[in-house]
Amino acid sequence: MTTGHSANRTAHTAVVGLQWGDEGKGKIVDLLTSEHDVIVRYNGGANAGHTVQVGDERYALHLIPSGILYGDKTCVIGNGVVVDPEKLLQEIDALRTRGIRVGDNLRISDRAHVVMPYHKEQDAALEEYLGSKTAHAQGNLAIGTTRRGIGPAYADKIRRSTAIRVGDLLDADYLRSRLHVICTLRTAELEALGVRTAPLDPDALATRYAEFGERLRPHVDDSVYALHDAMRAGKRILFEGANASLLDIDHGTFPYVTSSNCSTLGIPSGTGVPGSAIGRVLGIMKAYSTRVGAGPFPTELANELGNQIRERGREYGTTTGRPRRCGWLDLVAVRYSVMVCGATGIACTLLDVLSGFEEIKLCVGYRLPNGTTTDRFIPDAHRLEGVTPIYETMPGWSAEIRDASDRSTLPQAAQRYLARIEEITGVPVEVVSLGPERTQTLVDGRRAVALATA
Ligand code: IMP
Repeated sequence: MTTGHSANRTAHTAVVGLQWGDEGKGKIVDLLTSEHDVIVRYNGGANAGHTVQVGDERYALHLIPSGILYGDKTCVIGNGVVVDPEKLLQEIDALRTRGIRVGDNLRISDRAHVVMPYHKEQDAALEEYLGSKTAHAQGNLAIGTTRRGIGPAYADKIRRSTAIRVGDLLDADYLRSRLHVICTLRTAELEALGVRTAPLDPDALATRYAEFGERLRPHVDDSVYALHDAMRAGKRILFEGANASLLDIDHGTFPYVTSSNCSTLGIPSGTGVPGSAIGRVLGIMKAYSTRVGAGPFPTELANELGNQIRERGREYGTTTGRPRRCGWLDLVAVRYSVMVCGATGIACTLLDVLSGFEEIKLCVGYRLPNGTTTDRFIPDAHRLEGVTPIYETMPGWSAEIRDASDRSTLPQAAQRYLARIEEITGVPVEVVSLGPERTQTLVDGRRAVALATA
């Protein structure tokens, strides 16, 4: 896919979700992969789910970058990722069973932190506790996590002394000695949450995780040097954000966020590559909004319109199967994410889902409880919960648009909708996705398939 806008196309590229996740990043990353040599994950873990459709084959990936489907790309799991070795090995096995090569084309940072089984236990136990009647007296404080152990694994990283890194799995004695201390502490913590009666067995865990380490050994690398070596050799890098900007631990709707820097600000720390190396940031947004789990969502449609979007857009979680909350596009939120991520362009996905609505609303501001208005996003759940969206109403369109060959052949109303997104965010909509197939995509206004053969 080649494009012709002003951002520096010779430098490295980042792809990042501008909303609360599930924006269809997988497909856009897949389209961009052919222009890049190395695809890098910098944050999150198996809480993410990327679905890529190639012909009749549908691949759901959680930890491995979708570039792996190409065979000739190097895929890197950076130091900022939290790796569940069991899930990663399952993913590797599943890809190999389907004939996909996973060898030296997969590199895993020795400094990435490991998600252990007790992290998943802790995640679930904490969510149960915070969502229970006991905690309800203070309000339901559960986040609605994916229960993949993400928060507890990052908490151990920040706590340092109780963390396990991928490199530690390669030294069985060292791993065992650490686990002896960690398991004692962790058993006590789990008991306090009322979920564990038998103590954690450090020896059994050490044996199992050292075995995982042996299987992963051929892939484990100093990914920071590997990336800098690749850059020096003139390779082009694509940084693939997992989760999304509004779930960023520092810049999202805290505390209803995930535990990593999912915005592009996570790239330098999560890979060891400075932000100045990135010339192009493609922000991905749906033509409407969705959210999984708890947290404020000003434009949510908890009604028939929301149900219609959910059914048309098949809005059910890739990772957990949960129905997603659906609503109108919140451009206050998207413009904020464009700013924080330094997006140089937008890919607007799932525009076809909006076909058939008589009118479509765009949120362009918020009314605060004191009656004043703002066009600034409020990255704080408690304060954001009190706002009422201010909408612009635009006419909808009835034609199905999946097979449009050119942006100029889209219904006038759809063209105006895209133009309004550009006006408000201040960046061009470079890519429009009209369906799950690679070919159902307009790049710089034209159908992707035409570009591939041009
Ligand atoms: P955690 O990342 O499992 O701790 O979940 C924290 C919040 O982020 C929950 O509301 C999840 O539903 C949400 N979340 C995490 N990863 C994703 C994602 O990839 N897509 C959408 N929501 C996500």
